[in-house]
Amino acid sequence: MEDDIQEEVLSQFKERRLGGWQVLQLTAGTGLAVYAVWAGILMPGFRRVPLRLQVPYMPASRAQVSNVMMLLKGRSGGIADLGSGDGRIVLEACSKGFSPAVGYELNPWLVRLAYFHAWRAGQHKSISYRREDLWKVDLSAYKNVTVFLAPSVLSLLQKKLLAELPEDALIVAGRFPFPDWTACKVEGDGVDRAWAYHIQELRHRYQSQDVHEETS
Ligand SMILES: C[S@@+](CC[C@H](N)C(=O)[O-])C[C@H]1O[C@@H](n2cnc3c(N)ncnc32)[C@H](O)[C@@H]1O
Repeated sequence: MEDDIQEEVLSQFKERRLGGWQVLQLTAGTGLAVYAVWAGILMPGFRRVPLRLQVPYMPASRAQVSNVMMLLKGRSGGIADLGSGDGRIVLEACSKGFSPAVGYELNPWLVRLAYFHAWRAGQHKSISYRREDLWKVDLSAYKNVTVFLAPSVLSLLQKKLLAELPEDALIVAGRFPFPDWTACKVEGDGVDRAWAYHIQELRHRYQSQDVHEETS
């Protein structure tokens, strides 16, 4: 009996055709919902960041975090994750002894979530998530920097890192490599791949390129 009713309702539903106005309403409603999630949850805090520098949140996978940690093996000192999301890379680095372990993140929801994860892991006192624009942060104190950003910003970020980081700094990029640099070490495959760069090597290469260009 119940099955008959269900079938009847289903067949009525199938027979009903959506008119143009209903399709328009459905499309507009979906678009509005997507925009609300985008503006309210994924991208708040980005109003003052130029559109070409805005990078949406996409968390690193377990494999990506583990590849980053492999590349940081044997290193110590302070670490900064630029665009730290829910804080997973900073939290892992903190548990491996990096100190200070700092994440820079513009999205206030993600900063709160990151602190929640750190609190749950009992690490909230040794970790710091700052709601700051990574482009305005002075990076000169960090010996280790991790970056999971979009290709559109990596070229500009190269200049900032070269100008500010100390000579013994190591940079680890996940998901996308820096466009003009050659990595000293690579870990993982496909989308999980991560690349490490020694700032000293990069500066030497740039200096010798400049000398070569001047003399030729
Ligand atoms: C692809 S996600 C990476 C998140 C995290 N590092 C991870 O690997 O799980 C990039 C993050 O950078 C943040 N972000 C983008 N531009 C930023 C900026 N100018 N200053 C601070 N954070 C920024 C975004 O909100 C987003 O959470």
